[in-house]
Amino acid sequence: MSLFGSLFKKPKRDAIYEVKSPNKRVVLTFMVDNGQISYFVHKDEKIILRKSRLGLILNDASPLADNFSVVRVYSRSVDENWTAYWGEQREIRNNYNETAVYLEENVEPNRLLTMRFRVFDDGIAFRYEVPAQPEMEKMVVADEITEFSVDSNSRSWSIPAYQPDRYEYDYVERPVYNLTESVHTPLTIQTPIGHYISIHEAALYNYGSMTIKLNNSSLKSDITPLSDGMKAYVELPFSTPWRTVTIAHDPLDLTTSRMILNLNDPPRENFDWVEPTKFLGIWWAMFVGEWTWAPGERHGATTEHAFQYIDACKRLGIPALLIEGWNEGWEGDWLENGVNNKFMVSTPDFDMKAVTDYARQNGVEIVGHHETVGFVDNYENQLEDAYKFLVQYGIRYVKSGYAGSKMTIGGHREYHHSQLGVLHYQKALELAAKYHIMLDVHEPIKGTGIERTWPNLLTREGARGQEYEGGALVPSHACHLPYTRLLSGGMDYTSGIFDVANFSKRIASTIVRQLAYYVTIYSSMQMAADRPQFYEESHPDLFQFIRDVPTRFERSIPLLGEIGKSFVVARQEWKGSNWFIGGVTNEEGRKVELYLDFLEPDVNYTATIYRDSEDAHYRDHQLGYVIEEKVLRRGDKIDVYMAPGGGFAIKLAKQ
Ligand code: NOJ
Ligand code: CA
Repeated sequence: MSLFGSLFKKPKRDAIYEVKSPNKRVVLTFMVDNGQISYFVHKDEKIILRKSRLGLILNDASPLADNFSVVRVYSRSVDENWTAYWGEQREIRNNYNETAVYLEENVEPNRLLTMRFRVFDDGIAFRYEVPAQPEMEKMVVADEITEFSVDSNSRSWSIPAYQPDRYEYDYVERPVYNLTESVHTPLTIQTPIGHYISIHEAALYNYGSMTIKLNNSSLKSDITPLSDGMKAYVELPFSTPWRTVTIAHDPLDLTTSRMILNLNDPPRENFDWVEPTKFLGIWWAMFVGEWTWAPGERHGATTEHAFQYIDACKRLGIPALLIEGWNEGWEGDWLENGVNNKFMVSTPDFDMKAVTDYARQNGVEIVGHHETVGFVDNYENQLEDAYKFLVQYGIRYVKSGYAGSKMTIGGHREYHHSQLGVLHYQKALELAAKYHIMLDVHEPIKGTGIERTWPNLLTREGARGQEYEGGALVPSHACHLPYTRLLSGGMDYTSGIFDVANFSKRIASTIVRQLAYYVTIYSSMQMAADRPQFYEESHPDLFQFIRDVPTRFERSIPLLGEIGKSFVVARQEWKGSNWFIGGVTNEEGRKVELYLDFLEPDVNYTATIYRDSEDAHYRDHQLGYVIEEKVLRRGDKIDVYMAPGGGFAIKLAKQ
């Protein structure tokens, strides 16, 4: 890390500062223009963001946006490497130039604001820092002025915000000038001159989550409000999350940016106890109607079923088992009754001690389940005891869930993505860390890279997953995710459904595509989501790939793809030499050419290729597949066919 100095200047109401990326190609310009603050961004001298306003609007105080003078500017450069506990890439370089501009109002009450900018080769970030100051101990943020003025003729891909199913929607492609309703971030944009950018945020703590909306022909941040309409109540000093714009020439390059993780702090403690895993679940049987979450004749979470599934985990080599519906609270309409969910009381037909003892004897871990139905008050009353309860039985993993259109917090109905929601998710995560519990959060707050600081946040849902199969999932969805949702971190997509033609829950995918997801949709907790008989009896040949594929990778190289159409990625085993390649296509079949330039030279690899047959189709021939073995080397090129709604998976084992 090198510092290149700080600079004291006379207060200036008009000033311009340029912050350049280490390779000098990305330039952020910050302006104070007659006291008003704004910024714009170029890459290779081409405009990415036009002049975009900055500032915070406060409740009961004048905005922190105008009448500013610059009192001091401080710049530094950082170039460091860090090692992840898990992820798509083990060694990560964090390289940026930073400028902090210290501002003071030149009118009473002369409040202070610092704008901190970081410019990376792959994008820009900035945040508002409001220092502790005599006139202000707290502030109530009523709105954020932050603009991202992209060309409104750009194309964009996003999901709508403020909807009852949170982030669980199909991606919509439309011109930026049509973004008149708020959308969630990451918001992916292709500018008319061909840049691909992703607008998002990093390190979201104690603040409403940022959505984006068109306002007077400019994209503007729209912070998720609390039930009283305010965006955040904070004490000073306070820093907002980083507002980020990742910039790439190709949509594939968006997927390899680690800027969001880099903008988060390293962990404050040692997380060596964290361990990515794969798990089966007493789960899909509920979705296909064979079992129920609620107690009764077809109750899924019985001691007997748990024993059977533990045996299956052992036979299949899957280290963990999720059990949903084990506790009191699922009776009747669980979405309504969840207000009384009990997280320390199991149903009479589920013996937690017997199940966890049996699991331990067989070397299988149990993934506990906390479905809160968004009743945060009820959950927080039990949270610490509920974790202690699980720890006492040796449970180290918890899948949590927040079904429901809003959360109940402090007796009010709040958005999941509001400041109070963000605070709750964080509380649950930090308490989990205290008890060495690893989380898979469903209906979560979106990823903003905080898993760098809290690696026990192994994965989250936060998008439409396979529970929406049986009608609401379309093949293009999995071709949108890598370029949108997955830019914010891993996802528990609940992959590996082999019973693709099930009458009550038909899957819009060929069977081979289910394997591809383990590579194209990164998650450090990967579910083998179907019932064990479909792995052991129906397709043990395909299951071999699920057993082999790792849950963390040394590095990841996207090979080809187009937003909403296809995605192919190669990932190298963590600290290993084997490679895994996954590919998915939308409703159209396509043949792809893969150049194996990334393999080690002068080495033979045994390739096991799982691919769609020429006549496979996600609608009427899902089970058409071929498994072949080949010897391949660096420099080889292979052609692989993906059927409509299909995909492929390849394991390359170094000989
Ligand atoms: C929604 C979650 O996404 C799903 O995985 C879970 O089974 C149900 N809620 C019930 O908790
Ligand atoms: Ca869900």
